[in-house]
Amino acid sequence: MTDSKIYQASTTAPVNIAVVKYWGKRDAKLNLPTNSSVSVTLSQKDLRTHTTAACSAAFPSEDTLLLNGSPQDVSGARTQACFRELRALRSALEAQDSSLPKLAALPLRIVSENNFPTAAGLASSAAGFAALVRAIANLYELPSSPTDLSRIARQGSGSACRSLFGGYVAWQMGNEVDGSDSVAVEVAPASHWPTMRALILVVSAEKKGVSSTSGMQITVATSELFQRRAEVVVPKHMELMEKAIKEKDFETFAKVTMMESNSFHATCLDTYPPIFYLNDVSRAAIRAVEDINAAAGKTIAAYTFDAGPNAVIYFEEKDLDAVAGPLKSALSGLDGWQAAEREIKVQGLDKVDER
Ligand code: DP6
Repeated sequence: MTDSKIYQASTTAPVNIAVVKYWGKRDAKLNLPTNSSVSVTLSQKDLRTHTTAACSAAFPSEDTLLLNGSPQDVSGARTQACFRELRALRSALEAQDSSLPKLAALPLRIVSENNFPTAAGLASSAAGFAALVRAIANLYELPSSPTDLSRIARQGSGSACRSLFGGYVAWQMGNEVDGSDSVAVEVAPASHWPTMRALILVVSAEKKGVSSTSGMQITVATSELFQRRAEVVVPKHMELMEKAIKEKDFETFAKVTMMESNSFHATCLDTYPPIFYLNDVSRAAIRAVEDINAAAGKTIAAYTFDAGPNAVIYFEEKDLDAVAGPLKSALSGLDGWQAAEREIKVQGLDKVDER
């Protein structure tokens, strides 16, 4: 007798924006980074992926993934690695308890929706893989912690491991060759520093020119600046950043965030052939933040850019008027400025999981 029951579970995962950047893999297959990183998790009200994972003997035999209504290729090594690891954990549970339904052997049907345009150049793979991994873990009723799941999500996309936590999150690069200690951990919950805000400036909604994966591969192969960044600059920034977060020291948080972004984009320029992620509007945003800080007489705003021209500006709630207005007026006349900025709060882990 074939059981045609449909088993399913849903979850959501937030976007995170790094303040100490991950750039470079020491093992491309396991997605092991050349340096540790730190990120801030953004509010799910504005940016999140919602994912439902289902399995049933009644489904067609192939695993499927639908993202915003479009079928996705699941045969890639990264998605396969996530499926394989999660199935192995479920199989181990089934081997221990024969009363459990045999879900690991059933085809998976995953349905994901982003509440923001995937093409907006915002980090969608982080929320995407974090939601995919947790939805399947929920479906399989795995007793895994967020850190355990981060080890799996990392293999989907490096930055995804940090989206398993709310608040302030570190991805420890680890030392083990099997990647067992390359995981995300909480630096502080969102409630520790709830006045943090992020403003996203959508400078371009086009898809980025050079993907993170191939960009970092060329950087590792060609940039000497990269060596110094991984060995000297990032370890120093990690220490300063974790301390700044624990002490709620915005000025240090902001300075390290900006210097990190600049160091990362300098390594991109030092890559051969060079990679340009910033454009004229991005550079105007940098100047506008510098002017805002100069006018305030202290550092009240910090810019950061990932692998694209869109800016994320961190500031504290009390400085909203001093930051948002001047930023908008400095940029609104420029070509390419989309004025699609949004204010986004830092997200806590509570209410993230809908299981
Ligand atoms: C610049 O996590 O997208 O946003 O592991 O190859 O999927 P893969 O790369 P990805 O890289 C993110 C790079 C970054 C910095 C960061 O988020 O730390």
